[in-house]
Amino acid sequence: MQLSRLFFPCIFTILLLLSSCGKARLPYEAHKTAVGQHGMVVTPHPLSSAVGLAVLEQGGNAADATVAIHFAMAVVYPRAGNLGGGGFMVFRHADGGTDALDYRERAPLLADRNMYLDSLGNVDSDKSTKGHLASGVPGTVAGLLEAHARYGSMDLASLLDPAIELARKGYPVSQTEADRLNNYGESFAEFSTTESAFIKEEWKEGDKLIQPELAQTLTRIRDQGAKGFYEGETADLIVAEMKRGNGLLSHDDLLQYEPAWREPVIGTFRDYKIISMPPSSSGGIALVEMLGMVEPFPLASWGQGSRRSIHLMVEAERRAYADRAQHVGDSDFYDVPRDSLLSKTYLDHRMESFDPERATGSDAILAGKMALPMESFETTHTSVVDAMGNAVSSTTTLNSNFGSKVVVGGAGFFLNNEMDDFSAKPGVPNQFGLIGAEANSIQPKKRMLSSMTPTIVEKNGNLALVLGAPGGSTIITAVFQVLLNVVEFDMTLEEAVKAGRFHHQWLPDQIMVERGWLDPAVHDSLVQMGHTLTEVNRMAVIKAIHALPDGTLQGAADPRNPDDDARGY
Ligand code: DON
Repeated sequence: MQLSRLFFPCIFTILLLLSSCGKARLPYEAHKTAVGQHGMVVTPHPLSSAVGLAVLEQGGNAADATVAIHFAMAVVYPRAGNLGGGGFMVFRHADGGTDALDYRERAPLLADRNMYLDSLGNVDSDKSTKGHLASGVPGTVAGLLEAHARYGSMDLASLLDPAIELARKGYPVSQTEADRLNNYGESFAEFSTTESAFIKEEWKEGDKLIQPELAQTLTRIRDQGAKGFYEGETADLIVAEMKRGNGLLSHDDLLQYEPAWREPVIGTFRDYKIISMPPSSSGGIALVEMLGMVEPFPLASWGQGSRRSIHLMVEAERRAYADRAQHVGDSDFYDVPRDSLLSKTYLDHRMESFDPERATGSDAILAGKMALPMESFETTHTSVVDAMGNAVSSTTTLNSNFGSKVVVGGAGFFLNNEMDDFSAKPGVPNQFGLIGAEANSIQPKKRMLSSMTPTIVEKNGNLALVLGAPGGSTIITAVFQVLLNVVEFDMTLEEAVKAGRFHHQWLPDQIMVERGWLDPAVHDSLVQMGHTLTEVNRMAVIKAIHALPDGTLQGAADPRNPDDDARGY
């Protein structure tokens, strides 16, 4: 047995024993900032950060740590960490090489472009968001194993053991997690067909969540690799769950699932190189478009949060999201005009209609219907840098909080409701108010379009930033703004992540603004320019690492999620 396989159970036993000493209610505490000289992890939960940091401290690389963190998140962050969902990873190796892994869910073989329309041809959004019919074929397990096979250095078992331990012995839930479990308890009861570990009269901070079925599923993955999930007992349990709930996922779907290696989207902004996620995410294309559209303007001298900066950035956001709706979908099924969208000529042309004093109405950019407001902000992002200088930026999701709310009976994990990210009908908004067209129509085996934007930034050939976020459609604009906060507005990473944000997604034609930070005079002048502003409590939740020129690593976890945690060494 490797040393690492003994080490992990030890730290967790100590951590969990501490919880019963009465010294603190929780045996863990979230750190919002961290500084390290060797390695850094930023994850949505202190326990998943502890797992990742331990891997790095033992000499594991960024891919090893990312894989271990993701399996741990499936246990300690059940609302978004997952085995039943999918995601994206962007890699930048110490030698400057890059790669991108698409492990997004795919539509089941029995899916049909009209599957969410009722007899009158209207979209029944309940069907694409809740219950068994809402799930795409899960990609997470295949993706993590693929990332490990290509770039991992430690043995897989030692990366899964900490998660198995956490699931088997349980861990005390935070107040945030208790609140989420309580809020969704009724939905779990409504949509699951069996008892599950998540249902309880009332969750309180410090209550232990013990997940024996999930521990067994993780053990099967540890011992059998992908076959432990896509074949055999786990596959049988998923298919049986689908039969009980009239869902579509079949043994063939599971057997045929494959993650895909992709060419990352590469762009530039001044002397920075941007490395981000291509389709089936729209994140990288939209981010590089927005950066290209604002680059000709003197944003730094206008200042962060100023009328001119917000107006310009909103106009870039509006145009990029209009392009997303029309032109971007799974590139295995749809010919995405990626090079055109990213060309400086196109972006200059796109900004010809920009008026520095007036909002450009969204109807003047491309016709479409008004969209509905968005519902949830629960996905999760992980940023990791190792001692060798490798970086991984990875975002994964079940889509909504706890996905479809269906727990796979006997296997102990939630299934995604990612099918809602397809365009169920051209021009009709999904839960994030996003609309789409043919590029993102439903087809068997196709991946639904995402906004997840795992991103890495280089300066002068050196690693500079690793960042990403959960937050539905607001992910792309949050990455855009935090990136500009650091590289253009010269903020520290902590200030950049904390700073208030705004978001425009073309439709609905409004600027969503986080409450409480915008100068009232700026607010009023934006209104006078023709913008409509709507206040929201919070938007995407960034997890970021800044690699300083002297080699110091700064980690910043977003105060918007109390459990977000940064730690380094
Ligand atoms: O892939 C997407 O764009 C969405 N399914 C992400 C969902 C999300 O971020 C929800 N909340 N954090």
